[in-house]
Amino acid sequence: MPANTIGERFRVTVIGESHGPLIGAIIDGVPAGLPISEGDIQPMLDLRRPHGELYSTGREEPDSVRIASGLYRGMTTGGPLTLLIENRDVDSRPYEGPPIPRPGHADYTAWIRYGGRNDPRGGGRFSGRMTAAFVAAGAVALKLLRRIGVEVLAYTVEIGGVRAHADLSVEEKRRRYEDPLRCPDHEASKSMEEKIMKARRDGDSVGGIVECLVVDVPAGLGEPIIDTLDGDLAKAMFAIPAVKGIEFGAGFKVARLRGSENNDQFIVKDGKVVTLTNNAGGILGGISNGMPIAFRVAFKPVSSIARKQRSVRLDTMEEVELIVKGRHDICIVPRAVPIVESMTAIVIVDHVLRAGIIAQNLDGYERPG
Ligand SMILES: Cc1cc2nc3c(=O)[nH]c(=O)nc-3n(C[C@H](O)[C@H](O)[C@H](O)COP(=O)(O)O)c2cc1C
Repeated sequence: MPANTIGERFRVTVIGESHGPLIGAIIDGVPAGLPISEGDIQPMLDLRRPHGELYSTGREEPDSVRIASGLYRGMTTGGPLTLLIENRDVDSRPYEGPPIPRPGHADYTAWIRYGGRNDPRGGGRFSGRMTAAFVAAGAVALKLLRRIGVEVLAYTVEIGGVRAHADLSVEEKRRRYEDPLRCPDHEASKSMEEKIMKARRDGDSVGGIVECLVVDVPAGLGEPIIDTLDGDLAKAMFAIPAVKGIEFGAGFKVARLRGSENNDQFIVKDGKVVTLTNNAGGILGGISNGMPIAFRVAFKPVSSIARKQRSVRLDTMEEVELIVKGRHDICIVPRAVPIVESMTAIVIVDHVLRAGIIAQNLDGYERPG
């Protein structure tokens, strides 16, 4: 079955290609009665746009979003909500010529999978540009989540091996977008920037880690044993290009802990069951336990680097040397922060709708009884 759609009740289908006329998201399942406009979505898209011109792609896209269906008198109708973003700054010249896959990119696997019929320009559907569509949909999901007080906070914790310090307050994390690398630890951010600039001078790239917290999330979300909350979050994260790993709570470290160290013991606080620690990252048995959902996502270094590499001309099977052309990011981690937030919001809102916490008709929700 083709797989360009994520979600059960909040279903997001992503359309378009990097160098085609447009990209976009069609969301089926947005409850009727949500007031929304382009102005609610644009700020989130602006956060994803390249900002540090020295380490982000030189492609300058305004990423202006247009709502093309599903809206009447400023409110969602319950019909599919279509969000469209035109591609304006397209230069496909570097992608003309014989098929020579970039090492580390999806060019080779796409060639195999689609028999060479996929659109290779700018990576086509494998381009990081596709994430603008997810971010547009994520802005709608975030608006829905705000109605029930759920907050999604992602931020950079590592770039090029430089790690932010671990004791950051939620307040500091909330100010993440004040930092150019979206890292709440500004000292670490400066060292991260040096690593990026060094990679740039070397004709290379660097990766890093984005951490995400979902705060004030209701307990009881998740559909075990297959559509678990952690499973669905992991799947959503792997829809982001360049993601190579995810760990929840204490993550891989649990393999080295004893049960007595790893167990999060239960207590009662303000009449609510909470845990003393959060090694589980807010999810037990695939179901949210009411503690903050916490996970980290690993991004690989961008594959399109300015260095000579070995590759194969696929139509003739000749071995060749390749210098990748086109406009590329040196480090995508800062741009990934709003993308991780968006994908997280899409999954959480899907499960909130599945749990019936937000009704399909928001008027009904706002006038209980
Ligand atoms: C926001 C964003 C921007 C990206 N920009 C580039 C880029 O400029 N050049 C590049 O080679 N890869 C870039 N990537 C990563 C590729 O899209 C990705 O590595 C490729 O599709 C292969 O998929 P995989 O790394 O998940 O295996 C970007 C990813 C994201 C999320």
